[in-house]
Amino acid sequence: MRKDDILRFLMRSRTGHVSGGDLAKKLNVSRTAVWKHIKTLKQKGYSIEAIPSKGYRLLSVPDVILPDDVRKGLKTSVIGRKLHLLPETVSTNTLAASMAREGAVEGTVVIAEFQTGGKGRLGRTWTSPPGNLYLSVVLRPDIPPYKAPLITLMGAVAVASSIREQLKLRVGIKWPNDIYFAGKKMGGILTEMSAEPDRVHHVVLGIGIDVNMELKELPLEVRRMSTTLAVETCGKIDRTALLRQVLSELDRWYAKFLENESSVLTEWRKLDITLGSSVSVAFGPGNVMEGIADDLDQEGRLVLRLKDGALRTVAAGDVTILKR
Ligand code: BTN
Repeated sequence: MRKDDILRFLMRSRTGHVSGGDLAKKLNVSRTAVWKHIKTLKQKGYSIEAIPSKGYRLLSVPDVILPDDVRKGLKTSVIGRKLHLLPETVSTNTLAASMAREGAVEGTVVIAEFQTGGKGRLGRTWTSPPGNLYLSVVLRPDIPPYKAPLITLMGAVAVASSIREQLKLRVGIKWPNDIYFAGKKMGGILTEMSAEPDRVHHVVLGIGIDVNMELKELPLEVRRMSTTLAVETCGKIDRTALLRQVLSELDRWYAKFLENESSVLTEWRKLDITLGSSVSVAFGPGNVMEGIADDLDQEGRLVLRLKDGALRTVAAGDVTILKR
């Protein structure tokens, strides 16, 4: 009996039950071997009904991302040239950065089912239980380091467009790269770069999207400001299909970015929920500035109009939308 034989039989007869005796006969094994295999499948997350008089029936398959499923129909030219799928890792960004240092090709993607030390912006932790998407992409753009923040904006454009396209959910972007829906956060992007003063070695573009996890998995202090795609669409999301969409949008937007950076800024503005709002920007404890989010500059920095009319350009900070 091959490893997946029983699973294949159960998949084929999903509408009815298959008796243990039949499975044993077809696969030329004992009924105990069948039973043991069913037990293993259940431990892996397959939901299998067992009715003594009828046999076994497959009810649902676990929500896992399989490399072959991701590759199926993936038509990207750069992003996903190499795909590494891991059950768990500390941080896909950390792993992708070490692969990049060892010469990983541009477009290498690292995906994990969950992270034990997920990193967020501004030194925060990114809580990363199973059920969501966690991925990092190695990029080697031939750009000066001061343009790297545009890659973060490019990532946010790709993620927001993917969700809009795949799930028909009109998510928006809060500066610089938070994915928002109905006033709550459901995704973020962390870009880490290795560079010399005038040359980028590599950029790791890390993406986290809250997809199917239960909100109770998040720490209380972030829970009330967060949501997931499953909550907002009232159903479990096919993570593989969404991942494929994110990879193709990244491929498309990265090519556009290399050709003409301003196309990213134009699209970012269309998806943005920050500009025109009254906002506060926190740079650290006790260091907060308030104003109207006036515009983005050519490098993706936020231009704030203060109460006295003065303009301030902000490169990094934590934006809270006070009034739209
Ligand atoms: C944010 O603070 O909004 C950015 C969150 C970025 C999280 C992603 S999950 C995949 C990748 N690996 C990490 O450790 N962080 C990023």
